[in-house]
Amino acid sequence: VSRNVTIAPSMLSADHGKMIEEVMKVESWGVDWLHIDIMDGRFAPNLTFGPGMVSSIRPYARSIIDCHLMLSEPEKFASRFIEAGADYITVHAEAIRDSALISLHNEVRENGKKLGVAFKPATPLSTVDLSFLEPEMVLVMTVNPGFSGQKFMAEVIPKVREASELLSKNDRSPEIEIDGGVDMSNATLLKHNGASVLVAGNSIFKSKDPEQAFKDLKRAVGPDI
Ligand code: DX5
Ligand code: ZN
Repeated sequence: VSRNVTIAPSMLSADHGKMIEEVMKVESWGVDWLHIDIMDGRFAPNLTFGPGMVSSIRPYARSIIDCHLMLSEPEKFASRFIEAGADYITVHAEAIRDSALISLHNEVRENGKKLGVAFKPATPLSTVDLSFLEPEMVLVMTVNPGFSGQKFMAEVIPKVREASELLSKNDRSPEIEIDGGVDMSNATLLKHNGASVLVAGNSIFKSKDPEQAFKDLKRAVGPDI
């Protein structure tokens, strides 16, 4: 049974010089989630946004703000993104120890926020004890962290299905978010493999009509007729 699927525009593909206008624009399309990529040049080979950007856009966003922390030692910075108004704090399985992940989940929960755990394409889900940790989201990456506009790695689809099968056994089914190369050619397939949130950067912002591209993606994963 496939779930309702949310399309989360990735603001990495927007104009970094006018983020408030970009946020207001996508909000006017009726988005529910905004995906914000945070990179430190160490965990991922790029530099992007900090907590100051997140707090600046927060008043203009009704949407859920999903902060994807591609950072080494993400636990050192999580509180800054909580204060900035992020709703989801998503950290990489490759970047944090189990013990730090457990305390981070407590910190996030105490602040009324949600924890996501992200996996690079080559990282097995079994590197984290997900049924013990019970994060509110699992992010399966379908490109390597770093840049928008990379090619979708179809070989990761079995991991999407594995995540949805593994996690639907729990009472609470966490969100299953897919990030990297999502477009009209794979959105429906991802939905049918159990995805519930699809991040989309270039397939929205670099298209001729970004609003139409968002709406097309939304319709492609809409309720089955
Ligand atoms: C990649 C980022 C993605 C990126 C997605 O490291 O995590 O969120 O913005 O962009 P597209 O959809 O263009 O692959
Ligand atoms: Zn991302």
